[in-house]
Amino acid sequence: MTVQQTELLYLPPDLNRELLPKHVAVIMDGNGRWAKRQGLPRIMGHKRGVDALKDLLRCCKDWGIEALTAYAFSTENWKRPQEEVDFLMTLFQVVLRQELREMVEENVQIQFVGNLQALPKSLQEEITRSMEATKNNRSIKFSVATNYGGRQEILQACRAIAEKVEQGILKPDEIDEAVFESHLYTAGIDDPDLLIRTSGEMRLSNFLLWQMAYGEIYITETLWPDFDRTEFHRALCAYQQRDRRFGKV
Ligand code: FPP
Repeated sequence: MTVQQTELLYLPPDLNRELLPKHVAVIMDGNGRWAKRQGLPRIMGHKRGVDALKDLLRCCKDWGIEALTAYAFSTENWKRPQEEVDFLMTLFQVVLRQELREMVEENVQIQFVGNLQALPKSLQEEITRSMEATKNNRSIKFSVATNYGGRQEILQACRAIAEKVEQGILKPDEIDEAVFESHLYTAGIDDPDLLIRTSGEMRLSNFLLWQMAYGEIYITETLWPDFDRTEFHRALCAYQQRDRRFGKV
């Protein structure tokens, strides 16, 4: 990982380690607008977006956050111009190949959540290789939502559960939250405590609909390529001010 802010290497003293979110999720919005403002093609925004994501992953690891989930490609993103879709698919593949060794060395466990079967075969192979190579790593769990849609995730879980009921493997009254969650793409990953969305948009955009039932949401006007450790520090300070009641008084 090449890009790294030299300041804020350690957890800033005004943050309480005990009250850090265990799992942070990010909607990396604003790459296209960032590029436009610089007079560059949209794809350059995505390239800079990768750098921002790499530093956030390293920052989470440096500051003791256990899991990071990034929304890289939604089920709706296929509707973008073919050229941009092709660029993103190639970018994911190239970045995965380039970063795998470092992720192994840095003890990062990478996993992908979403309908992966619809991705190009060569990308699927790279995904399988990276998940296999890092599956025993424990410093941070890094999940990349790729061809991910929250509604589709819930529907495919319903279908899988219905099939089990039909086959007599499950009884309807055995379907509780734990059973349901075990059929989601995110099975085995705790719900996010904090979701950060950049570029000022105030919606979930089909991201982690089930998992965000009690997660805190932080929105910043900053465009994703400019989201750095200072911005993340600001988001964590805001999070630590929140009163998380989970429905209690
Ligand atoms: C949203 O900005 C960004 C995306 C749809 C792509 C995000 C992907 C990356 C940063 C690459 C991640 C790479 C790996 C390997 C995980 P936008 O294009 O919607 O921006 P706009 O709203 O300004 O048009």
